[in-house]
Amino acid sequence: METYFIETWGCQMNVLDTQRLEGLLQQHGLRPAGRAEDADVALLNTCSVREKAVQKVLSRLGELHGARQAGGKPATVGLCGCVAEQEGARLLARSPVLSFVLGPGRVAQLPAALDAVAAGRRVSITGFEPARDYDAHLIARGNSARQYVTAIEGCNQHCTFCVVPYTRGHESSRPLREIVREVEAVAAGGGKEITLLGQTVNAYRCPATGADFGDLLQAVGKVAAAWRIQFVTSHPKFFTDRMIDKIAGTPRVGSYLHLPFQAGSNAVLKRMHRGYTREEYVRLVGQIRAAMPGVTLSTDVIVGFPGETEADFLETLEVVSAVRFGQLYGFIYSARPRTPALGYPGRVARSEAGERLERLFEAQSPVQLELNQALIGRSVEILVDGPARRGSEAWQGRGPDNRVVNVQGWPGVAHGQIADVTITGATAHSLLGELRPGGPGA
Ligand code: SAM
Ligand code: F3S
Repeated sequence: METYFIETWGCQMNVLDTQRLEGLLQQHGLRPAGRAEDADVALLNTCSVREKAVQKVLSRLGELHGARQAGGKPATVGLCGCVAEQEGARLLARSPVLSFVLGPGRVAQLPAALDAVAAGRRVSITGFEPARDYDAHLIARGNSARQYVTAIEGCNQHCTFCVVPYTRGHESSRPLREIVREVEAVAAGGGKEITLLGQTVNAYRCPATGADFGDLLQAVGKVAAAWRIQFVTSHPKFFTDRMIDKIAGTPRVGSYLHLPFQAGSNAVLKRMHRGYTREEYVRLVGQIRAAMPGVTLSTDVIVGFPGETEADFLETLEVVSAVRFGQLYGFIYSARPRTPALGYPGRVARSEAGERLERLFEAQSPVQLELNQALIGRSVEILVDGPARRGSEAWQGRGPDNRVVNVQGWPGVAHGQIADVTITGATAHSLLGELRPGGPGA
C-alpha cells in the first residue's frame, strides 16, 4: 500500500471526515494520488440525505471494479460516510470490489479496517459508541484558510424526513475546552475563518460544564488568531434570548446565519416534527435581526413533503417573501429508509414537486438580486479562496455574510489573503468587487 485517494460527497461534516481519514492514512505511511483509479487505497466518503444514494455508490464501485480489472488499482476500496452506515455489510455482499465499510461514527477505526484488509478479511465497522474517539491532532487540514471544527456530532431531532439521526447517530457534544484548544491550534496553523460544525450546532451542551452554544461561541471568539468565526447549522428551536445576545456580542462572529425553515405551513411543519410553527420562526428571525442588524440569513426548504397541498406550498412562498433570505437551498422531498415520513400518505407527484421547486427559486431569485444590489458601493473585507474559475484572471473570496465576491485582475494575490474591496456590481448569486486603495490586501 502506497497511495490513497478519497472522493467526498455531501456536506461540510463529510469534508472534515475526509480530512480525518486522510490524516489516518498519512499516519499509516500513505501518500495522496491524483484520482481513485491510480490509488492503492480508494475511499468513497458518501452522503445519503437524498435518493439514489445507493445506486450512485454502486455505479461508482462498478467503475472502480472495471479500473481494477484493467490496471490493478485501486487494490483496496473502502466505503465511508452515511451510505456506509445505512447499508453496512449489505454492500459488502453486493459489491465484490469493496474491501471494507466504515461508518461515520467509526472514522478512528480506519487503521483497524486496513489491518483487517491486510490480513485478507473484508470488514464492516459501523454503529456508534457512547464515547467517540476524536483524533483532532491527526486531521490533515492542508493549507486552506477556511477550516472546520466539530462542536457537536450526530442529531437527536428525528425530523420525519431525515436520515441523518440514523447515519450519524445520537447527539454528542465535545467538551468546550477541547473545541477551544482545537480552534487555537487551527488558527495557529493558518486557519483564518473557522466554522463550528454540528447538525444542530446551537443545541451544543458541554458535557463537562453544561455551557451552551452562546458560551462556546464567546470562548471561541476569544481566540485572538482566529480572524472570523462562522457556524452551521442552527435549529430554530434551540435559540434562547441569552444565546442570541452572546452571538451578537462576540465581535469575530460573521454576519451570516443558516436557519433552515423547511416549510411554511404549520400542518406540514408538525408532520415534519420540526418543533416550531411558522409564526415562531418568523418571530425568531425578527429577534435575531434586532440583535444582529445586517445579518444575512440563509435557509433550507423542502417541497413536495407527503401531504403538502398547493395551499401549504403558498405558505412556504409567503415565508420566503416575508423573511427575504440572502440565500435559499431548495430540495424536492426524497423518501429515505427508516424515516417515519416514508410511510406517510399523500405522495406528491414528482412533476408537481418539480414545478413547486421552480416556483420557489423564481420567488427567491429577485429577492436575492435586490439584496445583493443594495450592497453596491459598500466596502467589505473578504477572505480570498482562489481564482474565480480555472485559468481566470478574476479572484474569488467571501465576505463575512458568506456572499461570493469576484475581483477582476489582481496580480500578486494569494489564497488566504484578507482584502478590503468595494462592491461594484451584483447578480443574484455573486458580487463583483474592486480592491480598495490602501486597504489590507491592496
Ligand atoms: N441540520 C442539518 C444541516 O447541517 O444542514 C440538516 C441536514 S440535511 C443534510 C440538510 C438539508 O437537507 C435539510 O435542512 C433539508 O432541507 C434537506 N433534507 C434532509 N432530508 C431530506 C429529504 N429526505 N428530502 C429532501 N431534502 C432533505
Ligand atoms: Fe436532519 Fe432535522 Fe437533524 S434535518 S440533521 S433530523 S435537525
